[in-house]
Amino acid sequence: MSVPTPASPHVMTTYGRLPMAVSHGQGCRVWDTQGKPYLDALAGIAVNTLGHNHPRLVPALQEQVAKIIHSCNYYHVPLQEELARLLVERSGMTNVFFCSTGLEANEAALKLARKYGHDRGIARPQIVVYEKAFHGRSIATLSATGNPKIQAGFEPLVEGFIRVPINSIEALKAATDGNPDVVAVFFEAIQGEGGIHPMHQSYLRAVRALCDERQWLMMIDEVQCGMGRTGKWFAHQWAGIVPDVMPLAKGLGSGVPVGAVVAGPQAAHIFQPGNHGTTFGGNPLAMRAGVETIRIIEEDGLLEHTQRVGQHLRQALEQALAAEIANGGVREIRGQGLMLGIDLAKPCGVLMQQALEAGLLLSVTADTVVRLVPPLILTEAEADEIVAILAPLIAQHLKTAA
Ligand SMILES: Cc1ncc(COP(=O)(O)O)c(C=O)c1O
Repeated sequence: MSVPTPASPHVMTTYGRLPMAVSHGQGCRVWDTQGKPYLDALAGIAVNTLGHNHPRLVPALQEQVAKIIHSCNYYHVPLQEELARLLVERSGMTNVFFCSTGLEANEAALKLARKYGHDRGIARPQIVVYEKAFHGRSIATLSATGNPKIQAGFEPLVEGFIRVPINSIEALKAATDGNPDVVAVFFEAIQGEGGIHPMHQSYLRAVRALCDERQWLMMIDEVQCGMGRTGKWFAHQWAGIVPDVMPLAKGLGSGVPVGAVVAGPQAAHIFQPGNHGTTFGGNPLAMRAGVETIRIIEEDGLLEHTQRVGQHLRQALEQALAAEIANGGVREIRGQGLMLGIDLAKPCGVLMQQALEAGLLLSVTADTVVRLVPPLILTEAEADEIVAILAPLIAQHLKTAA
C-alpha cells in the first residue's frame, strides 16, 4: 500500500497529502499525472458543483478571462449586480457582500453580528456557536469552530462566543436566558467537517422563532451544504425558514474561488462604506463563475437531479451495507441530497487512501465518517459505481482489528 508522500521542500506542510496529483478531469472523473482514472466523490471538498471541464462553464469562463479578469471595487462591477440578484431571488433575502472564500464569508458574518450589537448599544456582543462546528481557519472563525484540535496552538482565541450542542432548544435557552449581550446564533444547517450532522427541521424553526423573539440575527453557514448540494438551493430551505445572514463559498463558483454573504433586511444595511472590504471580492471572473453555475444548475434541473440521485445513492449504500448496519459496524448514514456521511463504529481515515488506490476520491471527517460530496451532475450509474467500490472497502475495514 502506498503511503503519504514526503513533505515538499517548498510548500508549507499544512496538509498531509496522499501520493497522487490530479492532471485533468471530465464530468465526474479525474485522471492523475500517471494517467490513472478516478471517480470523483469529493468534488474538491464540495466545490466542483458542475464536475470537471463542463461544456458550458468552460467556454463562458474563457470568454470572461479574455474580456476582463479583475477590475476594482472602486468602480461598479455589473456582474456583481447580476450574481447578487440571482442569489437574492433564490434565497428570499435582500443584499450580498462578495469575497473569495468560506472563512472570509464567515468573518464578514461575525463582523456583521458584532456591529449589529454595537448599533443597538451592546458594547460586548456575544454570538452563540455550536459543538463540532467548522467555520474556517482565521483567528475569529477558528474561535467559532467547535474543534479543540483546530484551535490548539493559536490561543488566545477571539472572545464573545457561547457554545451549545446541536439540536437542543433547551440547551440554547439555558445558555442564553437573561443574557442581554447575545446578538446572533451562528451554525451550519448540516455540519460538514464535524461529521455530516444535520440540524433538525424542527430545531431550525424553533431557533428562527427564538431569534425573532429576542431580536438575534440567525446566521446560517451554508458554505458546504448550500448551492444545491442537498437538492434545494440552500439546506435550511427544507425547514421553510429564511435566515438573516447566510455565508456561501465552495460550490458557488464551481471551482473558481467565490465567497458571498447574503443578508436579509435585518442585516443588509449594517455595513457602511469603510466598514468592510476585500481586494478580490466580486471580481468579474469570480462573478461570471457564480452566474454561470446558477444558470447551469437551473437549466439542467440539477436541484431535482440532486434529490433523485442523492436518494438513489443513499438507498444503494443502505442496501450494500445492510449487514454492517445490522451488526452496528455502520452506525448511521446521515445527510441529504449529495452530502452524505457514513458513520462507522471505528476510526477509518485509512479508507481515504484505500479508496484512492481503488480509483475513488472521497474524504473522511471527524475520524469515523466517510464523506461523499460528489459533483451535482453525478448519474445514478456513477452512484452505483461509488457504492460498488466503497461498500467492500468499508466491510473489509470493519473486519480488520482496530
Ligand atoms: C461550513 C464551512 N464553513 C467554512 C469553511 C471554510 O471555507 P474556506 O476553506 O473556503 O475558508 C468550510 C470549509 O470546509 C466549511 O465547510
